[in-house]
Amino acid sequence: MENHRNSNGTSILKIESHSSSISEFDGLDLAQLLLKPKPAGAMERQRSFDERSLSELSVSGNNLRRVDSYENLYSPGGGMRSGMDTPASSAGGRGLFEPHPMVAEAWEALRRSLVHFRGQPVGTIAAYDHASEEVLNYDQVFVRDFVPSALAFLMNGEHDIVKHFLLKTVHLQGWEKKVDRFKLGEGVMPASFKVLHDPIRKKDTLVADFGESAIGRVAPVDSGFWWIILLRAYTKSTGDLSLSETPECQKGMRLVLSLCLSEGFDTFPTLLCADGCSMIDRRMGVYGYPIEIQALFFMALRCALAMLKHDAEGKEFIERIVKRLHALSYHMRSYFWLDFQQLNDIYRYKTEEYSHTAVNKFNVIPDSIPDWVFDFMPTRGGYFIGNVSPARMDFRWFTLGNCIAILSSLATPEQSSAIMDLIESRWEELVGEMPIKIAYPAIEGHEWRIETGCDPKNTRWSYHNGGSWPVLLWLLTAACIKTGRPQIARRAIELAEGRLLKDSWPEYYDGKLGRYVGKQARKFQTWSIAGYLVAKMMLEDPSHLGMISLEEDKAMKPVMKRSASWNC
Ligand code: GLC
Repeated sequence: MENHRNSNGTSILKIESHSSSISEFDGLDLAQLLLKPKPAGAMERQRSFDERSLSELSVSGNNLRRVDSYENLYSPGGGMRSGMDTPASSAGGRGLFEPHPMVAEAWEALRRSLVHFRGQPVGTIAAYDHASEEVLNYDQVFVRDFVPSALAFLMNGEHDIVKHFLLKTVHLQGWEKKVDRFKLGEGVMPASFKVLHDPIRKKDTLVADFGESAIGRVAPVDSGFWWIILLRAYTKSTGDLSLSETPECQKGMRLVLSLCLSEGFDTFPTLLCADGCSMIDRRMGVYGYPIEIQALFFMALRCALAMLKHDAEGKEFIERIVKRLHALSYHMRSYFWLDFQQLNDIYRYKTEEYSHTAVNKFNVIPDSIPDWVFDFMPTRGGYFIGNVSPARMDFRWFTLGNCIAILSSLATPEQSSAIMDLIESRWEELVGEMPIKIAYPAIEGHEWRIETGCDPKNTRWSYHNGGSWPVLLWLLTAACIKTGRPQIARRAIELAEGRLLKDSWPEYYDGKLGRYVGKQARKFQTWSIAGYLVAKMMLEDPSHLGMISLEEDKAMKPVMKRSASWNC
């Protein structure tokens, strides 16, 4: 691999041989895939990510030239800024070889949460809280909750548990799923599963929940996406392509994809969802096109694109993914993005515009803009809002969706920086005393009654309604590293270190500043523990970021500029 400069001074990454690393596939040029389909003969099964990315990109028969103006800022693996301070040089007091005493405690607690099936570790229990009177389903392995555990294990070189989990869950996907008399789509992955040990017959059996037992009876749309994202993380971290290439995993991916790429009445490329279908698994007014799902959808599509085989079945999906990614990135970057300029434009929108020339395409009534957003919006910065649908913009901030947008490169580099600018300038509101708010601001009064159905668990500034979730620390840290702002992550981790262990790793904190242990928060919540470990390990060795981050795809660069903060 060599670096060159073209006539504009833009650097060019030129790959001469087939010896590139597996990270190259992340930079797959979508436009080439879309516009120049490979000749049928060249579509057979590929042996590795490396060869795949090369064969896809060298459609013209020439050497691959990937224009990459970020090459000086981002390493091909993870999009890490090479010039940033290392944790060792700027940790202030504690050096690289002096781990925080909480780290050992966290590992111990994480190991206590391990769940075994027929002698093999297959996941981690959601919470190991003996003091809590009500177990509910916290004694289960949740797919979304296991992701930070899996990343911690991968970063620690313990791959087997992740492999077993991936195989176990894809196996569960194959079960017939029903809610009352209604059969769910084949591709639905479980929200959670449980291992039942029969000490007499010495037998382990699995029970899974696809939504048919869940409070509210909603299928977890995020599970399938997290599964695909984790399969890529495993592949990237181990270099072991054999798992993602198994017929089970290939089929698992295709089944998830057929659920969300099917054609219907949609006029938008975003995915229509019910309330409660993801981390926020209760009614919280996020139905419609929630940012969390759209960002995970985008990331899962990109991960699947890198892992699907180019056989007859895979090929069809690859073409559909490429088209959807183009439409989805355009839609999200244009209509979900909000910054000072855009807010001002919406504030001045005309309504009732008909035809193609409409500026206010979704007929959003400016009077529906909530007062808080005018104060919340900094002059510099921006974010992806919670939801966009006809006559409705949910202006709330959601941390998970915005961090995933950065990690998947759904956000352009300019938008990613703007999101970090916003986090910095709204630190008090979003981080306060405990990182970081799941959503901002809380809904209260009449709005709470209408949107949550009077949910006593989701009262203002509690739980999903403006509560602070330590698990989100790993996502924040990953986003900070990717955007070259590790100092923000360091600040957040320090805050968490002041409380988490002392408070026994709560699930969430309450209050405007996240100061109080959550009203009904579990203790020893596994993803709070694993989230902290992943954040620490990523800061110490930022090359870990590669397993959970995708580089920007130049082919999806926006054609228009909407506002000034994109350029800051
Ligand atoms: C809560 C959370 C959900 C999580 C589950 C298990 O229901 O809302 O996101 O997966 O607990 O920890």
